[in-house]
Amino acid sequence: MSEQASAGSVLRIDGVHKWFGDTPVLRGIDIEVARHEVVALIGASGSGKSTLLKTINLLEGVDDGQIHLGETDITDPRIDADSIRGRIGVVFQHYNLFPHMNVLNNVTLASRQVFGVKRAAAEKRGLELLERIGLADKAREYPDRLSGGQQQRVAIARAIATDPELLLLDEITSALDPQLVGEVLDLVHELKAGGSTILMATHEMSFARRVADRVVFLKGGKIIESGTPQQIFDAPREEETREFLSRLRDPLA
Ligand SMILES: Nc1ncnc2c1ncn2[C@@H]1O[C@H](COP(=O)(O)OP(=O)(O)O)[C@@H](O)[C@H]1O
Ligand SMILES: [Mg+2]
Repeated sequence: MSEQASAGSVLRIDGVHKWFGDTPVLRGIDIEVARHEVVALIGASGSGKSTLLKTINLLEGVDDGQIHLGETDITDPRIDADSIRGRIGVVFQHYNLFPHMNVLNNVTLASRQVFGVKRAAAEKRGLELLERIGLADKAREYPDRLSGGQQQRVAIARAIATDPELLLLDEITSALDPQLVGEVLDLVHELKAGGSTILMATHEMSFARRVADRVVFLKGGKIIESGTPQQIFDAPREEETREFLSRLRDPLA
């Protein structure tokens, strides 16, 4: 694809393959995410969602194919991984806050350490973010004093504190008690409304339907089908998609 064709896309994944030993885990993935777009990755456990997100954050290398963040080919072996990671916000399934730092320091750490923002400016922005997610009163608390849902909201605040071009969210509600899921998903919804560009793996189908502009169904490291939420959930074209969705609706089937 030419550089011109990529204009406006925040992320472009072209023909990405990845093996773990002899096992192919990503088998020719192509995905493009436009600015302000929210794309949901769905698929059974082991289908390659996390591995794909890790290749974008350079936690895993690719064996073939390219990934562009904006105009930058991040699969170029000469790339400076830290400078790429500084452009991407990431939230994983398990709370990833630093337990020995208070909430505000968790949120401001990257701006201070990676971008050299002065403490006062970073804290002002950090407090604004905490205000926005309704946790300003927790700024000086340590993570273990917060509920799982609050911790994930702080993890999201930390991920967006540096104004990343792209947010990667990997099953961020799957370790939460059901009653805490809503507050985290509502925050993601707000980020979308605020114009964030998001690629997220999720097993929350109703959430994917509500928030995603596009849904990509992965199976065995391949994209079986992608489309609007309405198309994927209401009128899937592929038998494998139908089978995956019907099993979710009726786990005993
Ligand atoms: N570090 C690793 N080494 C070997 N195999 C791995 C590693 N990480 C993931 N896998 C395998 O890769 C496949 C895809 O895993 P993953 O990307 O975690 O899927 P998902 O996030 O969709 O559940 C699985 O078969 C998993 O066992
Ligand atoms: Mg996963």
